[in-house]
Amino acid sequence: MRIKIGVLAALLLFALASIFYFSNRTTRAPVWLDNRGKPIQAHGGGILKVGDEFFWFGEDRTQGLDPTRKYVACYSSKDLSHWTFRNQVLNLADPENLGPGWIVERPKVFYNAKTKKYVMYLHLDDSSYKLARVAIATSDTVDGDYHYLKSFRPLDMESRDIGQFIDDDGTAYLIFESRPTKGFVIAKLSDDYLNVDKQMSLVPKPLEGGALVHYNGLYYVIGSHLSGWTSNSNVYATASSLEGPWAGFKDIAPPEKRTYDSQSSMLLKIVGDKTTTVIFMADQWEPKTLWDSRYLWMPLEISDGNLHLPRPKPWTIDMTTGIVTYKNRLWN
Ligand code: GAL
Repeated sequence: MRIKIGVLAALLLFALASIFYFSNRTTRAPVWLDNRGKPIQAHGGGILKVGDEFFWFGEDRTQGLDPTRKYVACYSSKDLSHWTFRNQVLNLADPENLGPGWIVERPKVFYNAKTKKYVMYLHLDDSSYKLARVAIATSDTVDGDYHYLKSFRPLDMESRDIGQFIDDDGTAYLIFESRPTKGFVIAKLSDDYLNVDKQMSLVPKPLEGGALVHYNGLYYVIGSHLSGWTSNSNVYATASSLEGPWAGFKDIAPPEKRTYDSQSSMLLKIVGDKTTTVIFMADQWEPKTLWDSRYLWMPLEISDGNLHLPRPKPWTIDMTTGIVTYKNRLWN
């Protein structure tokens, strides 16, 4: 009898532990396949809209690629859910003698109407993240090939995670994380986008994965705490001007959800004729199998300076109206 109780207690404990484990993992997004039926490789990504098409650029971490080179892939879509593989737009050999394990992360592409060039910003680093620079590669066409131009520290500051922001008036900004000053910088690009010109503000909190949106007269920034690949509870702050001051810093979702196991990458605003929707784009990193990292994209709930990331579930958006329709089921 005593043995039976012991076995039952062990089973109960195991069941509870499993429930706890899986309730924390229920938000792992399903694999997102492209038009070829292959998992989309666009990690730490950014979106550029050209005409009525969205182009998604991101780290291509496909298994088996030459480890001495770094790759960026590009996909296009008109509805944000069906993505066509366009090209491996960057296929780069170590450009600054950084040695084994050198790094290219979080590519972001801007289009410069004056020079008619597509300008890709990248986080370029050595294996110990000491270089802390941005690199630039350019192309005449949106889907490549992009050619390496140079690397530098924007405004002579350390720059790790980068983000991109294009304001409603078309002005282009780079967001970059500056560790010594403990925060991320929002900086205007030069006229040709080949340089970072002017600091607009420093978001004064040690955050990375910086993302920004202008919505109903307010700027909202989102960032993650500094915990590497491990997810944490991302926070947001607001300001009425890009110069700040940035106030608030609240969790975007219940803190115990750790942003549904994801890290911010970009905020994408869709302006329809009925409503405006802001989509939170984030990565669900799998540090040991980075190629299998997933994407969490969810429309945010924003009103009167408050921003909230709802529990992830499948959705679609009508590009004409901007209205989101939810499928009434969870991911898993
Ligand atoms: C994260 C960062 C990623 C990558 C990772 C490495 O915090 O956002 O882009 O750099 O750290 O640990």
